[in-house]
Amino acid sequence: MSGFVGSPGENQVMKDAFEQVLQPIETARGLPNTVYTDTAAHAEECRRVFGGGWACLGFAHDVREPGDAYPVIFAGLPLVMVHGRDGEIRVFHNVCRHRGRTLVEGPENLKTSMVCPYHSWTYALDGQLTGTPHVGGFGKHTCEGFDKGSIRLKDVRSAIWFGMVFVDLSGTASDFTDLVAPLEERWKDFRDAELIHTGADSTITFELECNWKLAIENYCEAYHLPWVHPELNRYSPLNRHRAIVEQGFSGQITECYTPSLPDGMPMFPDFPGLPEYWREGAEYVSLFPNVLLGIHRDHFFAGLILPDGPARTLERFELFYFDAAVAGDDYAASRAANAQLWQAVFAEDQDAVEAMQRGRHSPGFDGGVFSPAMDGPTHVFNAWIARAWLGSQSA
Ligand code: FES
Ligand SMILES: [Fe+2]
Repeated sequence: MSGFVGSPGENQVMKDAFEQVLQPIETARGLPNTVYTDTAAHAEECRRVFGGGWACLGFAHDVREPGDAYPVIFAGLPLVMVHGRDGEIRVFHNVCRHRGRTLVEGPENLKTSMVCPYHSWTYALDGQLTGTPHVGGFGKHTCEGFDKGSIRLKDVRSAIWFGMVFVDLSGTASDFTDLVAPLEERWKDFRDAELIHTGADSTITFELECNWKLAIENYCEAYHLPWVHPELNRYSPLNRHRAIVEQGFSGQITECYTPSLPDGMPMFPDFPGLPEYWREGAEYVSLFPNVLLGIHRDHFFAGLILPDGPARTLERFELFYFDAAVAGDDYAASRAANAQLWQAVFAEDQDAVEAMQRGRHSPGFDGGVFSPAMDGPTHVFNAWIARAWLGSQSA
């Protein structure tokens, strides 16, 4: 195991804390405060969790058209998604191979190439360096001993699933399909669904003053429902929820999902052919490390969680529908109402996660204990993170 972030003594304290997380839930404690508050610990965690295996970077619809590019700061690193002329979505380190300027500064359509603003080196949308003005002296765009054919942007291994773009910065994680196979099997009834994203009216964003893990932990548990979401709890009460606890994801099932739109608004069409389970069943899971998902018979949503330092988190939810008709004007009010409904629910969580972050500065908190009955989803996520720290897991 490589060192953690402090002196050997401090590291032993952290190692002991992670081992404690891995105990059975009855005796386990949660993750130590350090990994929520400390800058050096956060950098190390990013290296292990976001640099060590698959994690979500963005959405395929961020680069809907050929030529579209969408830069993302991903756990501190500049990356860019690019939709090639060949239809492929690729991810690159967003850094020019010449002197290291960041290349794409904002979402844009690049048409056919990426041009560095510094010395105008030009890359094709597949990452290949194609143009190097004056590289051989003024007016000479080639240079002996300089083979631009051997230079390309650094590729990042990527995969697309349920409308999301995932990356593996390590390049060595096991197949992406291994990561999502259990969830894909669980949601096989939706396998062939075409996910319709309708634009800005289906996007909900938050900036949370908390560590990114608290957003995941809060999402995967239903325990807080009666107190944080009293309105939601009225028609989807805690006693109609069941936990989902798996190795790579955790969350909750609700047994009483009822689409709720104001009177007179058209309801969204269900995904056709679903078994009875989904008539009132809906599922909400955190897919580790950084995705929040919700699936219902008439819509789906995905939330991307990106850390911005130890105590700030960017959260972006995208709503999707199963029928192209929902993109039309007839459904505009329904779409807005649905987005507003989820916006209100997620906003209720903001207080909780930000207050938990403040609590993690307290020496009076030591990771906390878990309810064996209610906190299984939180514990399994904490354990997943502890294993990433201990080096005993490939994400
Ligand atoms: S740094 Fe990009 S062209 Fe020089
Ligand atoms: Fe909540």
